[in-house]
Amino acid sequence: MESKWLELVMLLHVLGVLMLGTAELCEGCSEEERVALSRLKPFFPFIDYTTGHPGLNYYSTEEDYDSVEEKESSLDCCKWSRVECNPNTGRVIKLFLHDRNGFFRDPWFLNASLFLPFQELQCLSLSGNLIAGCLANQGFEKLSSKLDKLETLDLSYNYFNDSILTSISQLSSLKFLDFTANFPLTKSNTTNGIKMLSKLNNLETLNLSNNPISNILSQLHDFTSLKSLNLRNCRLKGIVDLTEFNTLMNLKELYLDFNAIESLGSSFQGKGQLKLNKLEVLGLSGNHFTNSIFSSLAALPNLKSLNLGFNKLKGPIDMKDLNSLINLEELILWSNGVTELVHSQELRLMNLSVLDLIDNPLDSSKLSSLGKLPNLKILSFGSTELKRSINITEIVGLSNLEQLDVYCHSDTDCSFSLQSLGLFPSLKTLYLIGFTFDETTSYYQNSK
Ligand SMILES: *[C@@H]1O[C@H](CO)[C@@H](O)[C@H](O)[C@H]1NC(C)=O
Ligand SMILES: *[C@@H]1O[C@H](CO)[C@@H](O)[C@H](O)[C@H]1NC(C)=O
Ligand SMILES: *[C@@H]1O[C@H](CO)[C@@H](O)[C@H](O)[C@H]1NC(C)=O
Ligand SMILES: *[C@@H]1O[C@H](CO)[C@@H](O)[C@H](O)[C@H]1NC(C)=O
Ligand SMILES: *[C@@H]1O[C@H](CO)[C@@H](O)[C@H](O)[C@H]1NC(C)=O
Ligand SMILES: *[C@@H]1O[C@H](CO)[C@@H](O)[C@H](O)[C@H]1NC(C)=O
Repeated sequence: MESKWLELVMLLHVLGVLMLGTAELCEGCSEEERVALSRLKPFFPFIDYTTGHPGLNYYSTEEDYDSVEEKESSLDCCKWSRVECNPNTGRVIKLFLHDRNGFFRDPWFLNASLFLPFQELQCLSLSGNLIAGCLANQGFEKLSSKLDKLETLDLSYNYFNDSILTSISQLSSLKFLDFTANFPLTKSNTTNGIKMLSKLNNLETLNLSNNPISNILSQLHDFTSLKSLNLRNCRLKGIVDLTEFNTLMNLKELYLDFNAIESLGSSFQGKGQLKLNKLEVLGLSGNHFTNSIFSSLAALPNLKSLNLGFNKLKGPIDMKDLNSLINLEELILWSNGVTELVHSQELRLMNLSVLDLIDNPLDSSKLSSLGKLPNLKILSFGSTELKRSINITEIVGLSNLEQLDVYCHSDTDCSFSLQSLGLFPSLKTLYLIGFTFDETTSYYQNSK
């Protein structure tokens, strides 16, 4: 009998503990972390806003902010929109402290130790705060032993210079580091610091875009774990030899857009010279590439997405030069001088599904050759800049097309009739901009 009582008491005890556990869970964040967040508030005044979503970022518009973010306090910091907690433990795992209005602030210095209490932290965004560096002896190195789950650090749009890199290189759990637009980064011309980051041997994504670091390539050789490297608008110019990236054997994405690159070198034209076997996404838009670029890309057979928009491509492009890119799914050629896509040999771009030809002096009658691309689903062409008539009826054979976007200059004759829809039996979305339709020039969109 006694043992039965004992069992019951124990059962109640267990239940009590369970209920207590739940109560704790409902209360959300711990006292310690709430105090730590309140210490951050003077520097990040929006930290306790409760409405809004963490998806807001530097590019969000005024309306995005106004509509979703209002100040309202809640004792449960896990309900704050800039804070994300682990739902089981109530511990803070993500802090979204990006500030789009940070540019109106004076540069200031951060005390990184303020983040020490968040020992389960996985993601920290400090984007757009115009932070100039860390206080003496309060740099990111302070976090290296305690915050061993920190994987994502977004420092984009701040005012950090090279001196911060030593301390960041000690955050060994980092997988994603965004250093976009930290303008004084290399005013000093001593970019050796970047090399130090190669100590981060879990690092998969490194974004150095919008920094003037034209001499960076030789410092990147040891970043062997990288999967995504962003060097957009870094003032690279002339020849950027792709073999420079050969040691980055895991690289899947490489963004070299908006530089002044003329060529990717030729040293790899021989067989097996280029080792970027995993490269799937290559961004080359906004450079000085000419038609010869296609032959140099032949050594990247696993490429799925190629962006050559806003370059110096001219005249007819022979699709046979693209044939070695058998896995290509997306080809972006906007704003070039392409007049025609010709195929002198059988096309092998069986997986090509997105083709963007906007702002090229193409004649619509020359697009029928695309009918040979069995998987083409999205096609965009035309221009609101170039005066060129477009006759949709001339585009035939694109029976699998699901989306067609055509832009027409308002001064030209671009006709469209409902009957032409019959040419595209799989069409789901049609954007016609500047077309004459039923005697009115209008933006016309049809989803069926
Ligand atoms: C930085 O923050 C830590 C932790 O809150 C604090 O102990 C330290 O005094 C601060 N240092 C400075 C220079 O403000
Ligand atoms: C870089 O930033 C640190 C503060 O973090 C500052 O002391 C140093 O003077 C800066 N260096 C340059 C070259 O601007
Ligand atoms: C930066 O380095 C380049 C050579 O790498 C040199 O020509 C240039 O003068 C340096 N600029 C400054 C501001 O030190
Ligand atoms: C930087 O580039 C990475 C991809 O390499 C991307 O995920 C990230 O969004 C970029 N950051 C900004 C601020 O654009
Ligand atoms: C095309 O895509 C399919 C499925 O996504 C894939 O299995 C195939 O290897 C790709 N390449 C070619 C040349 O078909
Ligand atoms: C559009 O092209 C079709 C097929 O080539 C032709 O029959 C038709 O007359 C053209 N329409 C105009 C307005 O030029």
